[in-house]
Amino acid sequence: MVRGVGAYLPARALSNADLAQMVDTSDEWIVQRTGIRERHIAADDEVTSDLAIKAAQAALANAGLDAQDIDLIVLATSTPDNTFPASAVTVQAGLGITHGAAFDVQAVCSGFVFALATADNFLKAGSFRRALVIGAETFSRILDWSDRTTCVLFGDGAGALVLEAVPASGAPDQRGVLTTHLRSDGRHKHKLYVDGGVSSTKTTGYLRMEGREVFRHAVGMITDVITDAYNATGIDSSTIDWFVPHQANRRIIDASAVKLGIAPEKVVLTVDRHGNTSAASIPLALATAVADGRIKAGDIVLLEAMGGGFTWASALVRW
Ligand code: ACO
Repeated sequence: MVRGVGAYLPARALSNADLAQMVDTSDEWIVQRTGIRERHIAADDEVTSDLAIKAAQAALANAGLDAQDIDLIVLATSTPDNTFPASAVTVQAGLGITHGAAFDVQAVCSGFVFALATADNFLKAGSFRRALVIGAETFSRILDWSDRTTCVLFGDGAGALVLEAVPASGAPDQRGVLTTHLRSDGRHKHKLYVDGGVSSTKTTGYLRMEGREVFRHAVGMITDVITDAYNATGIDSSTIDWFVPHQANRRIIDASAVKLGIAPEKVVLTVDRHGNTSAASIPLALATAVADGRIKAGDIVLLEAMGGGFTWASALVRW
């Protein structure tokens, strides 16, 4: 079950007006097309694991646990500190943990749901007892700040969940991850990618995207994988309490909610303040909705994400 949640945003906020000083864009264009008003940008000396450690510490405090209680760390990121080691081991060392295991998962914007599914399966198999599932990104480092079609969309941040193994009680209202569904289709890999890499160009590269193509596929993929979750559990749009989607774009979220018949007041939105923080966006949104009292113990929370690859995924969690 979910024991705690936490998040961290870098101090520096970058508004649409700030961006309009850098590229040929406007607050009106960005808000109308994406719903984004501002995003946070990591300081030059702040790396992904720094953000992840702060989010993890917040989640541990929220759970009332000590770092030593954790024996698994699964970190979703596409912007690791280094090619290797995994940023998860830097987080592990930063938290003072020397037991258990820590590794990264890379599924771009779907990374958090992939990490959640990975950790949940390890816990259910009895391999580990308590996991930190983290999404942390510094997408500002892979943005081409002269390309207005991409640089206005993304931000930096981190969020974390503490997941705890509990014996299956068979009770219909047992808390925890109820189902996860993961998908990918590499035929779409050139629609959203980074044009550099260790084994290809030996450079870091910049994010490149066919925005219209991403948009065209997003709603169908999201609604399909959510339908898989509904079919697996008997839960549906009328019985979920909260919809916490990957925060890529207000229009994609709204269109998905309409297609699925999810009431607007059940949708948790943070894209206006965070931008698209890739794997960090769902735990950042969860932390926001728990902190403001919306998500409470026992609530059924629907998560979904779609991103580069393409990858897409859903999860149903009884909080
Ligand atoms: N400011 C002003 N004008 C811009 C900007 C900008 N930041 N960016 C593009 N434009 C211009 C274009 O140059 C184009 O001008 P033209 O008609 O003179 O050629 C015009 O605006 C329309 O461009 P389009 O790309 O057709 O705009 P569109 O309506 O498709 O909106 C957007 C672009 C917002 C990227 C949209 O395609 C979208 O939301 N796609 C989904 C992408 C996404 O969310 N990706 C996130 C990663 S994937 C994920 O997380 C799901």
